Amino acid sequence: MKWTIVGAKGMLGTDLITRVKREGYEITALDLGDIDITDAASVQGALTPGQDIVVNCAAFTAVDPAEENEGTAFRVNATGAANLARRCAQTGARLIQVSTDYVFRGDGTTPWNEYDAPDPLSAYGRTKAAGEWAVQTYTKDYLIVRTAWLYGRFGNCFPKTMVRLAQSHDTLKVVTDEVGQPTWTVDLADLIVRLAQAKAPTGIYHGTSCGKTSWNGFTKEIMKAVGKDPSMVLETTAAAFDRPAKRPSFSALAHGELRKIGIEPIGDWRERWHAAADTVLVPEDPASARA
Ligand SMILES: NC(=O)c1ccc[n+]([C@@H]2O[C@H](COP(=O)([O-])OP(=O)(O)OC[C@H]3O[C@@H](n4cnc5c(N)ncnc54)[C@H](OP(=O)(O)O)[C@@H]3O)[C@@H](O)[C@H]2O)c1
Repeated sequence: MKWTIVGAKGMLGTDLITRVKREGYEITALDLGDIDITDAASVQGALTPGQDIVVNCAAFTAVDPAEENEGTAFRVNATGAANLARRCAQTGARLIQVSTDYVFRGDGTTPWNEYDAPDPLSAYGRTKAAGEWAVQTYTKDYLIVRTAWLYGRFGNCFPKTMVRLAQSHDTLKVVTDEVGQPTWTVDLADLIVRLAQAKAPTGIYHGTSCGKTSWNGFTKEIMKAVGKDPSMVLETTAAAFDRPAKRPSFSALAHGELRKIGIEPIGDWRERWHAAADTVLVPEDPASARA
């Protein structure tokens, strides 16, 4: 199988390359400098025919800055996805588009299904939802894999921030009223490979850990992993923070479509975090991962 990974230098892209290499597949790794997904001509030139799978890990992922820069976020998350989808339809490659739980409004109390209607609260969510629609419009052979609360070794992520803050603070106030599913990039990369190998039917799948927690609950587990007392994590609510973007209060995702096709979802978030912690919290060495 020939793979092209776009956004190859990002947090997910880096771990996906390692995972795909382990299978012995041929990989073309592309990031800014090799391809600009907002530019149809650049996509046309960089995505050569003969690829079986193209994974789009490239995105404008900064949730608060997207509020002020929705046009830029749209060009990357929506126009970029459209350009890739059109090119994949021409070349016959299957497109795997990575999307987000933030496409949902998040005002429910039960996990969102793959077929529930997107209704985003934020600019980031709107541009990612537009990316999903573009993919569904421009190619017939796609997998949209929604993920959430990603953490990984090769990027800035929530656990690293919390561990850094815990070094200089006796207590940390973390919100209890945003609930979701912390997900390790290594687990998501593995799921993407399993979906491709299974030749999963075109459609939307949820690539998150099972179970659910709040950022507060996640922070307590992060503190446990670094030998700190989780009681240093105090409760607060989103209203206490003045952030530009609204976040869903409940964005846990259900995994019915994976189960329907016999693919095991990623495991429980807490168990996966403790499996990941030592890897995620070591200092970055991207050069060795990409060698
Ligand atoms: N991080 C999360 O918590 C989270 C949650 C839910 C869903 N997701 C989704 O998961 C996917 C992977 O996220 P991630 O956190 O791994 O992202 P990331 O670390 O920000 O990586 C994205 C990569 O795409 C590159 N890129 C940006 N604009 C581009 C363009 N126009 N053309 C080509 N490449 C471009 C970036 O380059 P520069 O760094 O130079 O800009 C970066 O290397 C994204 O689709 C994201 O929306 C992420």
